[in-house]
Amino acid sequence: MDSSRLDQQAAIVTGAAQGIGRGIALVLAEAGVKIAIGDIQSSDGTVEEIRSAGGQAVSMIMDTSRPDDARALVDLALKEYGRLDLLVNNAGIDAPRGNAWDLPDEEWQRVIDVNLSGVFYCSRAALQPMLEAGRGCIVNISSQAARVGEKGMSPAYNASKAAILGLTMAFSAQVAEKGVRVVAIMPGAVESRDFGWSVEKREAMVREYPLGLGTPRDVGETVRHLASPGARWVSGTAIQLTGGYQRGSSWY
Ligand SMILES: NC(=O)c1ccc[n+]([C@@H]2O[C@H](COP(=O)([O-])OP(=O)(O)OC[C@H]3O[C@@H](n4cnc5c(N)ncnc54)[C@H](O)[C@@H]3O)[C@@H](O)[C@H]2O)c1
Repeated sequence: MDSSRLDQQAAIVTGAAQGIGRGIALVLAEAGVKIAIGDIQSSDGTVEEIRSAGGQAVSMIMDTSRPDDARALVDLALKEYGRLDLLVNNAGIDAPRGNAWDLPDEEWQRVIDVNLSGVFYCSRAALQPMLEAGRGCIVNISSQAARVGEKGMSPAYNASKAAILGLTMAFSAQVAEKGVRVVAIMPGAVESRDFGWSVEKREAMVREYPLGLGTPRDVGETVRHLASPGARWVSGTAIQLTGGYQRGSSWY
């Protein structure tokens, strides 16, 4: 049996219009997974790319920070595919750069709403069909920022990504025995788009990553493994996906 094949599975990937989410959706679709994308912007490009390669994909414009939108996305996957095996909570926003002492209330709130509450709403909605089926997997995209602060990086981002780890553990404890696994991934620097780095800044980043900067497909390959039967014993944990980068101590 080819363990990289995930035929029959249906997955939701949030935030797959671009970047890491797109990479995850493409890798999963190549493995035979049927994809439903929810994004605040159009995901037509990702859907087209999957379909033109022979895969199946649908999408809707939605906001993960709205509970009704989260339910609608789960309904879309169930209507299209009749099952839901995997939810990848990838949608997230970078907080505008800023320090703790001048972070405006509305910026704090929006980052928490999208990066944390959005993960909760989508997970809660997805759990209903997963628990009924007695199987499923939820993968939450956290970040190395959960454990390492940075001058000038908004604390809202670090806090939201650290809180995702707590959600992961809590959900896993409650649903593992019912056949649903919940895992977090903590990527380091992934070149998911043009970050506007100077040549010097990029070189400095690369020096911290012995295996180079990450790509969206690197994250997708880890999600593919987590969705596979080979990961049947992986739940209630966080995978540090960092290309050998080891700044800071252990994540807890
Ligand atoms: N790029 C990195 O180095 C890196 C590192 C660690 C973690 N992450 C995390 O990985 C995820 C993806 O990052 P990326 O670099 O691809 O970002 P990105 O900004 O390129 O893509 C994020 C996607 O999420 C969508 N989105 C934003 N808010 C949404 C909402 N409320 N509802 C639905 N969709 C929404 C956006 O439209 C976009 O398509 C994020 O959660 C990010 O925090 C990124």
